[in-house]
Amino acid sequence: MLSKTMATALNGQVNVELQSAYQYLAMSAFFESTDLKGFAHWMRIQYQEERAHALKMYDFIHDRDGEVLLLPVAAPVTKWDSATATFAAALANERNNSAKIDELCELAMAEKDHASLAFLQWFVTEQVEEESVARDLLRKLEMVAESNAGLFMMDQELAARPMPPEAAAPTP
Ligand code: FEO
Repeated sequence: MLSKTMATALNGQVNVELQSAYQYLAMSAFFESTDLKGFAHWMRIQYQEERAHALKMYDFIHDRDGEVLLLPVAAPVTKWDSATATFAAALANERNNSAKIDELCELAMAEKDHASLAFLQWFVTEQVEEESVARDLLRKLEMVAESNAGLFMMDQELAARPMPPEAAAPTP
């Protein structure tokens, strides 16, 4: 069974993941509005991944006989000056998420909660990947410096991002 402290912290992370999902959805809408459909597609998958992360944590709280308490999700930022600025914000978001997961691991260690620590390792590994991908795309955007040709090529590349099975929307 989860301690109250651990349950509160995990509920906080459900909120962080949902907030992150909402932010990526706003980024997807921003790219739709600027006719960069491939970028919009990439951000929409990112939204679905974050939603899946929230649900993974939600299920774990229930599995450990904890109480899920859903918190308010704030309105996201909706406009950026450029595609580069959007990805800089995405990378900052992932770095923030990584720091939150690290804090949860430290709490699990302090509480000698081995089940939570083992569960959180999946998120530790996932964050390495998430930061790496966001950083690579930001560097590419800095290289093309918002040129039309560069953005067009990247848009085609991002349009090909496949949907990871864990992020697929649950069937009704
Ligand atoms: Fe679920 Fe990208 O952090």
